[in-house]
Parts: sequence; structure tokens; C-alpha cells
Amino acid sequence: MTRTPVNVTVTGAAGQIGYALLFRIASGHLLGADVPVNLRLLEIPQGLKAAEGTAMELDDCAFPLLRDITITDQPSVAFDGANVALLVGARPRTAGMERGDLLSANGGIFGPQGKAINDHAADDIKVLVVGNPANTNALIAQRNAPDVPAERFTAMTRLDHNRAVAQLAKKLGVTVNDIQRLTIWGNHSATQYPDIFQALVNGKNAAEAVNDEAWLADTFIPTVAKRGAAIIEARGASSAASAANAAIDHVYTWVNGTAEGDWTSMGIVSDGSYGVEPGIISSFPVTTKDGEFEIVQGLEISDFSRARIDASVAELVEERDAVQALGLI
Ligand code: NAD
Ligand code: LMR
Repeated sequence: MTRTPVNVTVTGAAGQIGYALLFRIASGHLLGADVPVNLRLLEIPQGLKAAEGTAMELDDCAFPLLRDITITDQPSVAFDGANVALLVGARPRTAGMERGDLLSANGGIFGPQGKAINDHAADDIKVLVVGNPANTNALIAQRNAPDVPAERFTAMTRLDHNRAVAQLAKKLGVTVNDIQRLTIWGNHSATQYPDIFQALVNGKNAAEAVNDEAWLADTFIPTVAKRGAAIIEARGASSAASAANAAIDHVYTWVNGTAEGDWTSMGIVSDGSYGVEPGIISSFPVTTKDGEFEIVQGLEISDFSRARIDASVAELVEERDAVQALGLI
């Protein structure tokens, strides 16, 4: 049976995450080994030539699932009929730039892209925002796409989730396969809260297995929350392959479902669950099935967790207020 190709739009396609991402999308890791894809690459004019070079390499791989590649600097073309959109390109903070300038510059990118998604994407569009500040950029795009259901706009905290699983596995001397039900709460920033109180290691409570609150508070949480900065310090550039890998994981899980008994972390529009301000895009524990997700309900939140969730949510509320004051949402 020949399946209809899925249209996947990637912005910032000529950047370092784009380079690590496109070959995996084209080889079937984003959606499945039997799903053909058309790639739509959006770049700014200065990035078009490099995107063309990447497209030449994609051709040279002769990927059986890759049907077509479009390269453009026009959001209306890039998002035309898009089923999945990975918004990677963003304005990085440069020396001397104030937070308001950064939010404003990104508003100039994610506002129009949200509008183009609203006007041109397919009805089943799913959006993942990777470009930082990812949660608030996702909020800007979502608010500029009033005809698209709000839950289709998500922000990436899967990299934080994967980092936390890896650190916990190391601490306990187990493999990552032995760990389930870890949660990242809040913002993709240093205030995020990686929560192991509900996590399981080989079916047993992970916090009890660790049994070391000082390690949790002083080593685990800061290591995960500041990992992005540590990578920049070590590599001289921000994470790229691991970020691309997390983007693949995020969309694959969203489309194909979480494993029985497990959950994942996604930045999604808050419905007020766990006292998180409704409307902001915050990371939650979610299960996914048939392309839909649900927040895991009924988890007990300790005082230790409550304080950390509240701090990250407060930061997101501040970012929302700032972009609101700038007229971006
Ligand atoms: P990069 O600078 O290598 O590439 C960004 C690309 O985006 C560039 O090619 C640039 O030309 C393009 N671009 C800029 N504005 C654009 C626009 N309006 N439309 C289309 N393309 C545009 O950066 P990178 O390393 O690939 O990282 C991309 C983003 O991802 C950064 O914001 C980074 O901070 C973020 N990031 C997020 C996570 C996460 O976990 N959420 C992890 C790592 C990196
Ligand atoms: C990461 O978590 O690796 C990135 O978000 C860091 C960054 O600032 O790009």
C-alpha cells in the first residue's frame, strides 16, 4: 500500500540542530519506518544557500521515504499543508541584549509563523517549538493561530527529560530502560523541575532508591537544569545532536503513543492542572495515544516539589506578562 506523504516543515533548517535533524526525519525516525515524508525547509534569506547544500546531501542519501524537498524563505510556502512543524530557528541572545529585546525579536519570528500556520497548515497540524525561549515562543505562535486548537502547540522539554533519565540511571547503576515515569515540570530553563518522586526504577520508587535528598537538591536538579549551559561551555556551541534527538523523540511519542505504564514530559498549554496558571505553556507529565495527549492526573505533590514547580511557573507567568506588554500576544 502506498501511503500519502506527511508534510514536515522545519524552520532554521540550515542551523546546527537542523543539520542533525533532517537526516533522521528523512530516514523515518520522526514518524515511523513506513511513513513517507515531504520536507519543507524554512530559512532566512542568508540561510537559503546552506539549506540548499543540506538538501543536496539529503538527495545523495537516496532515502526511500523522502519524497520531496522545498526550500523557501516564505512562511506561507513552508507551512502550506504542513502536518508537522518543527520550529527550530530563533533569534539567539547576543551580548548586550536585554530580555525584552530578545522576546521582542523572537515575537517577530514566532508571531508571523503562528499566523502562517493558522492560514496555511493542514487541519491536523502538530507543532513543536525548539527555538528558545521555547515555552514562550510556543505561546506567541499559539496565540497568533486562533483557528488551530491550542493543544497542537507544544514546547520541547524532552531534552531535559532525557537528560534527567540519563543522570538518574547513572546514579543508580541501571540502564535508561529501567526508568519510567520521570517528569519535567515548568519552563525549559534553569528553573525547570526534574521530578523523580513519582519515577520508577525497575518498578520501585526512584526517590526511595536514591534515598539522598541532598544529592537530589544539590546535584541532580542543578545538573539537569544547567546542562544546556554546561554543553555550551564544553562544546563552544549549544547542544545540537541531543536536541535534534529529543525533537524526534517528542514527535514520535506524540504520534505513536507512550508505552503502557509510562509517561513523558511535554511543554503544553496548561489547563490549570496541578495549580499551574491556565494558558501558559508549561511542562507536564503526559501520556499519549493516537496522536492525542493527556496530562497524568492525581499525582501527589510534596512541599519539596510544590516550591520548585511554583518557581518555574512564576518565571513562565513573567515571560507571558512581558510578551503581553510588548503586544506580541
Ligand atoms: P543555529 O544558530 O545553528 O541555527 C538557527 C537557524 O535558524 C539559522 O540557520 C538561522 O538562519 C535560522 N533562522 C533564524 N531566524 C529564522 C526565521 N525567522 N525563519 C527561519 N529560520 C530562521 O541554532 P541551533 O543550534 O540550531 O539552535 C536553534 C534554537 O534551538 C536556538 O534557539 C537554541 O537555543 C534552541 N535550543 C533549544 C533546545 C530545547 O531543548 N528546547 C535545545 C537546544 C537548542
Ligand atoms: C539546551 O538546553 O541545551 C539549550 O536550550 C541551551 C541553549 O541556550 O541553547
